[in-house]
Amino acid sequence: MTGKIPDHYSGGGNLADRIARDLRAKGLEPAELATADFEALDEFHFRGRAATLELASQMRLTARSEVLDIGSGLGGVARTIAQTAGCHVTGIDLTPELCAAAAEISGWLGLSEKTLFLQGDATDLPFADNSFDAAITVHAAMNIAAKDRMYAEARRVLRPGGRFAIFDILQGEGGEMIFPVPWAAEPSISYLARPKEMETLLRAAGFKLLHSTDSTSESLRWLEQRTAGTGPSPLVPVTTRLLFGDGYTLMVQNQLRALRERRMLTCGFLYAA
Ligand SMILES: C[S@@+](CC[C@H](N)C(=O)[O-])C[C@H]1O[C@@H](n2cnc3c(N)ncnc32)[C@H](O)[C@@H]1O
Repeated sequence: MTGKIPDHYSGGGNLADRIARDLRAKGLEPAELATADFEALDEFHFRGRAATLELASQMRLTARSEVLDIGSGLGGVARTIAQTAGCHVTGIDLTPELCAAAAEISGWLGLSEKTLFLQGDATDLPFADNSFDAAITVHAAMNIAAKDRMYAEARRVLRPGGRFAIFDILQGEGGEMIFPVPWAAEPSISYLARPKEMETLLRAAGFKLLHSTDSTSESLRWLEQRTAGTGPSPLVPVTTRLLFGDGYTLMVQNQLRALRERRMLTCGFLYAA
């Protein structure tokens, strides 16, 4: 599949082989690692696994829940939820290379039965109505122009009462974004909504707002610690940088500035279908 968004995220392809090779070069065997060890690579969003655990705790999951992860990337969010709640998570993502690598990493970690990764578009989900008990989307809507269709699709595939947890990057009041950033090397694939627009879109799709938070200052602190090396060191030495190479440094610097100036916000929303 080609297109500006898959091209942006495909990282040159062959991702699982490259991850395995880089791990083995550091003396680590992929299948001997734990899900949490991959956090710096496969939880490609602010505040990593801690943010996923926080969202999962709000989703009322049981071991029987069928969960959808929209924009699942390398699958860290899906695996963290599948492992901690014991449920099944289906991830859908536009970038085939990420879906293939996500499936392979689940295999290393013994989670192939609990996770499924499909290539597809959030605005046209390949699922029947009422297929899922809960849904989550983390840092994906900023690449999606047709958010009305994305949320209408999420609502359609969720059973009535099902929870929809959202953690996204939004447009702040401090000015326009500066590029490149990790979700877009240039502005043509970046579509940030403002918090009020998000609420209007989700209400129009038929969701009821239960809770919202602005975690921009926590995200800034987390990124400052990571870049200064004062936070916890990544458990495995392969990180999101794998997708972007040396260009990642400027992407992160731009995010730091945008968070400090509130050009971008990180916000969480919990909705019920
Ligand atoms: C920054 S990554 C986040 C991945 C994952 N949610 C995480 O937090 O680790 C954004 C992801 O959204 C996916 N994406 C962008 N547009 C999409 C669309 N229209 N449908 C499905 N996935 C999409 C990209 O391929 C990418 O994997």
